[in-house]
Amino acid sequence: MVAQRIKGIPPSMTIKLTDRVRELKREGKDILSFTIGEPDFPTPPHIVEAAIQALREGKTKYASSQGVLELREAVAEEYQKKGLDFTAKNILITPAKFALFATLQSLVDPGEEVILQDPCWVSYEPMVLMAGGRVMRVELDPLEEFSFLPEKLKDSVNGRTRILLLNNPANPTGGVLRKEHLMMIRDLAVDHDFYVVADEIYEKLVYEGEHISIATLPGMEERTITVSGFSKSYSMTGWRIGWIAAPEGFIKDILRVQQHTLTCLPPFVQAGALAALKGPQEPLNEMREAFRKRRDIVVKRLNEIDGVSLRPPHGTFYAFFHFDYPISSMELSEMLIEKAGVALTPGSAFGKGGESFMRFSFATSEDKIERGIERMKRFLEETF
Ligand SMILES: Cc1ncc(COP(=O)(O)O)c(C=O)c1O
Repeated sequence: MVAQRIKGIPPSMTIKLTDRVRELKREGKDILSFTIGEPDFPTPPHIVEAAIQALREGKTKYASSQGVLELREAVAEEYQKKGLDFTAKNILITPAKFALFATLQSLVDPGEEVILQDPCWVSYEPMVLMAGGRVMRVELDPLEEFSFLPEKLKDSVNGRTRILLLNNPANPTGGVLRKEHLMMIRDLAVDHDFYVVADEIYEKLVYEGEHISIATLPGMEERTITVSGFSKSYSMTGWRIGWIAAPEGFIKDILRVQQHTLTCLPPFVQAGALAALKGPQEPLNEMREAFRKRRDIVVKRLNEIDGVSLRPPHGTFYAFFHFDYPISSMELSEMLIEKAGVALTPGSAFGKGGESFMRFSFATSEDKIERGIERMKRFLEETF
């Protein structure tokens, strides 16, 4: 029998979808899929070379559990540039997903509450549940970068609130929070003495405006645990490397989780990551420009479909569009796969607040995007 802790974890709605797409493709059906959350570009060659070099040099044994010093120093510099007084002591090298899991394990006691954006990335809720915490989902404002609705956020804070988990820029919405949105969260966190876990994995994929790390706001450095990494910005999803940046006390506690689970990250992977931060940044800029161009195509073409509306996402590679048809997002997703040969993630997979929306990942070629949207347009306009 499965443990209670795992029993309470909802099955992923998206797995059903992925399995169906795979099945249809096996049957020889032509399905254009826009569900994947990873860049389609190869990892830049200088990063690959640095890792190969490290392997050849024999960097194939255990490394420091907290992370190779040089890499931690390089990550700390990223935060120094933002005005934070961080050194290698403030950094833990770990995959971003594990960083979130380990942070919640080290901070949440049973029954404590974690505030989540609704809609939000699918893995947050299971991670909170695995830590024994309770989930408090708060509705977002689609007209304001999918920021929290201020009154709803205030009402959700109580004596059990331990953490607000903030994804900015956000998956699935593409929202990038402005300073006033972040200040509102800051004020609540300081007044009610809770922590913010800031998932900033998409921080370098911003097309307009500026990404602000919430840790840089007054009073936030000491109460923010920032998670980020290499997967999305350097096209390194398979490398499994990212980091936590936080006050030293948090790092020491989270390190205990890492020491007794992952032990460390492979040293050759860390060598590649160091090359990503220290080497030329042109590949990153080129990828971002390619995403921007695709974003513009997606915004223009999706808005041409009757019943579909999309405000330009200012960050990430997701377009979270609204539809005005009398069916659920899950039903629409199934119809599009079966009848139009296009796979999108239903908004409800990300929470109730995602109903009547669909997530379209534009981390794929312009040609495929054009063909996919054309298929959608034809099908949707004939059907509704
Ligand atoms: C919002 C968000 N946070 C974290 C992650 C995990 O990143 P990584 O694959 O680097 O662990 C993802 C990946 O999809 C994500 O979308």
